[in-house]
Amino acid sequence: MSESGTILGTHHLTFCVGGAQEDYDFHVRLLGLNNVKKTVLFDGEIPVYHLYYGNGKGDASTLLTSFPYRQAGLMGTRGSNQLKQMNLSVPTAAMGFWADRFAAAGVETRRSELFGTERLLFRHPCGIEYSLVGVDDGDDREVWEGSGVCAEHGIRGVFGTTTSLHQAGPQHFFLTEGLGAEHLASDGADHQYRLGTDDGYGRIMELVEEPDVPQGTWQFGEGTIHHHALDVGTSEDQAAVKDRLVGLGFTDASEPKDRGYFVSVYCRSPGGALIELAHATRQGFLTDESADELGTKMCIPPHWEHRRAEISMLEPIETGAAV
Ligand SMILES: [Fe+2]
Repeated sequence: MSESGTILGTHHLTFCVGGAQEDYDFHVRLLGLNNVKKTVLFDGEIPVYHLYYGNGKGDASTLLTSFPYRQAGLMGTRGSNQLKQMNLSVPTAAMGFWADRFAAAGVETRRSELFGTERLLFRHPCGIEYSLVGVDDGDDREVWEGSGVCAEHGIRGVFGTTTSLHQAGPQHFFLTEGLGAEHLASDGADHQYRLGTDDGYGRIMELVEEPDVPQGTWQFGEGTIHHHALDVGTSEDQAAVKDRLVGLGFTDASEPKDRGYFVSVYCRSPGGALIELAHATRQGFLTDESADELGTKMCIPPHWEHRRAEISMLEPIETGAAV
């Protein structure tokens, strides 16, 4: 660890979707990811699922995690000063495979290019924006093979996120001085940064200036990305990065919160994106399931145990083979 704390890359991305079944079908049956864990959102007064998707072991940087909010009836509004898009890494040669797969599933896509990489843009059924980014070097993450997606085409995990904001300046300061990111390039309203080390993945933070777009919401609500969690490796690194942010004046950083599988500190960035600093607990996802049964049980955190009856009223999720 460096004195100012080491950030490796992304740990996970978290967002609020609509229905649980719809979300499971999108991530597992369409994107071919593994359902690593089914549990309940730790915070709040009513039970809401927390669904984790990623590779076979749920390695850091492969994780996408959702809160299906439709049953609770809370809606969010997408906009600026908010995380706008989740960017996932695939081999460039797999772009055609994915375009065909989305077309066959009736999902609209758009191809584009940004900062020298090919992008395939699409949306989650709840409206959240995603992109597949063609990456041809240095991404050797273990890929889950599921739902007819082989390792050659599979999503390797997070490439990064795009934050929409009115002006890039304050976020530039937060990323470079606060998180030690390097400004790689700018192209009109788009700006690209890289943070982390060669041991991490999902290291690209992109910004897009959209001064005319009204601000989006920050509370939990269907259709919005909630936070981008960075992998800080250890509690010492977490404390050091938090101290660095607080020392710069970003004093609204939370105390470490035990999330069972990892420990989290949250800090609101000036561009609106909520940033989390996460490090895995000793057992991680093996705390309540064996490696072979990851994602097969409903895992109820100890502090929700007495409300098991309410949790059983959540929308059932059918996880059998697609018909
Ligand atoms: Fe998180």
